[in-house]
Amino acid sequence: MDSEEILKFADNLVFAKTGKHLDNVQEAILIGAWQGQKYPKIAEEAHCSEGHARDVASELWKILSDVLGEAVNKSNFKSTLKRQQFSIVSSHYWKDTVQIGNVNICPETLQSINFTKTRSPSPPENTESQIRQDLRDAPDISSFYGRTSELATLQQWIVHDRTRLVAILGISGIGKTNLALHLLPQIQHQFEYVIWRSLGTSPTLHNTLKSLIKFLSNLPETELPASTDELLSLLIDKLRSHRCLIILDDVQTILSSGQIAGNYRPEYENYSTLFKRIGETCHNSCLIVNSWESPREIVALNRENTRVHTLRLDGLGAAAGEILREKGLLEPEKWETLINTYRGNPLWLKIVAAMIQELFGGRVAEFLKYDTLFLGDELKARLQQQCDRLSELEKQVMCCIANEIEPVAISQFLENVQLSPDDLFNVLPSLGNRALIEKEEQDNQALFSLSPVLRQFVKTEYCREGR
Ligand SMILES: Nc1ncnc2c1ncn2[C@@H]1O[C@H](COP(=O)(O)OP(=O)(O)OP(=O)(O)O)[C@@H](O)[C@H]1O
Ligand SMILES: [Mg+2]
Repeated sequence: MDSEEILKFADNLVFAKTGKHLDNVQEAILIGAWQGQKYPKIAEEAHCSEGHARDVASELWKILSDVLGEAVNKSNFKSTLKRQQFSIVSSHYWKDTVQIGNVNICPETLQSINFTKTRSPSPPENTESQIRQDLRDAPDISSFYGRTSELATLQQWIVHDRTRLVAILGISGIGKTNLALHLLPQIQHQFEYVIWRSLGTSPTLHNTLKSLIKFLSNLPETELPASTDELLSLLIDKLRSHRCLIILDDVQTILSSGQIAGNYRPEYENYSTLFKRIGETCHNSCLIVNSWESPREIVALNRENTRVHTLRLDGLGAAAGEILREKGLLEPEKWETLINTYRGNPLWLKIVAAMIQELFGGRVAEFLKYDTLFLGDELKARLQQQCDRLSELEKQVMCCIANEIEPVAISQFLENVQLSPDDLFNVLPSLGNRALIEKEEQDNQALFSLSPVLRQFVKTEYCREGR
C-alpha cells in the first residue's frame, strides 16, 4: 500500500463512522504512524504543536478502534491495516457491501485501492426456475448475426465488472433491441429477477416505477407508496436486496426534440434521478438502457463512474451478409458495396434487400448498375422521426456536411455556417451522441461526414429550406 492507498482506506473507515473525511492533521498522523515517525516529527509535518497532534491522534485511534472492532494505536496501526487488507481480499464477491470490522462499506468506495481489484470467481448461477422473468414488453426473438464482440463486452461489464448501468446507443434499426434480447439468455442466470420494459408509450416515471415494483415486490397496487420519491427509494432497496436485471427499451421517447441531445421532455425530467441513483448507489443489480441518444446524466456518469458504461453500436459489417442471404439476394461478391453503402444497418439492409428481391429478383448487380441510393417510404419515415428531433443549429450543421463532397473540418464549419465556435462545440458532440455524423482523423484534424443514406435524406428533406 502506498500513502495514497492508506489514506483512502482510512478515510473510508472514518467517513463510514463519522460522516467526515480526514483532515490534514489526521492524514499526517496516519502517514507518520505508517512510516514509524515520532509525534514531534508528525507535528512538524502537520504544522501544529506536538500536543495538538497527540490529541487528534488519540481521537483518531479511538474512531479506528471502534470501526475495526479492535484496539488501534500508533504502534500497531500498520500491522492492523495489513491484516484488514487480507480480510477484504477474501470477502465474498457478490456482497453489495464489504464488512470491515464493525462497518459495511460499499466496495465501490474502496476501488481505488489495488487490493480490491482481486476478486473471487463468479457466483453460483440461478437455474431457470429460480429466475423470475417479466418479458411481456419484449419483442419476439428474431434472427441474429455477428455482434460477438459486443456480446462479450456486455457480458464482461455486467457479469464480471458488476456494472450497474449500461447504455446501448445507436441510430434506429442498428439492432439495440435485438442485441439486448440475445444478450438475455447469456446473462440471465446471474439474476433473480429479469424485467423488460419499453418506454415506447412514454410512461411517466411514477408509472414505470410502479410497474417495476409491483413485479419485484409482489405487492398489490393499493399497498405501494404514493409518492414518486418513495417508489424510487423502494426500487433501490429491491435492487440492493435482490440481483435484478432491468431493461428499459426505447428510452429516447422521454427525451426532448428541438434541443441538444440528452435533454428530457418537460414532464420526464425526473427520470434523471432514476438513472443517477441507479448509477451511483451501491447495489447488485443492473439497468440496461436502449436509446437513440444518451440521456445527459448517463454521459456524465459514464465519465466519472466505473460502474456505468456505454456501448455505441455500429453496423454489422460483413456479418450483415447473412441478412442478405436470408432475404434471398444473389451475387454475394456484390454484397460488400451494398453493406458499406447502408453502413451495415440491419434494418436499412432489410428494406433495400426487400426492394431488390421484388424488382430485380434478388440480382444485386442489376440494382447497383443504376448507381442510385434507394431509401423508400419506410426508411424515409424512420429517418424523418430521428432528424425531426434535431435543434435548428444541428439541422444547419447537418446541411453543411451534406452539401460538401469531402468530409468537413471544424474551421470549414465556422466559415460556412453562421455559428459561434461555442455553438459548434455543443452541436457536434450532440450529433455524435445521436450517431448521425461520422468522424475521422486526418492530418491531425477531425473531419466530419454523413453516411450516404443520411446525406441523401438530409439534402432532399432539410437543405431545401435554405439552410
Ligand atoms: N445482429 C442482427 N442480426 C440480424 N438481424 C438483426 C440484427 N440486429 C438487428 N436485426 C434486425 O434489424 C431490425 C432492427 O433491429 P432492432 O429493432 O433491434 O433495432 P433498434 O436499434 O432497436 O431500432 P430502434 O431504435 O428503432 O428501436 C430488426 O428487424 C432486427 O431483427
Ligand atoms: Mg429498438
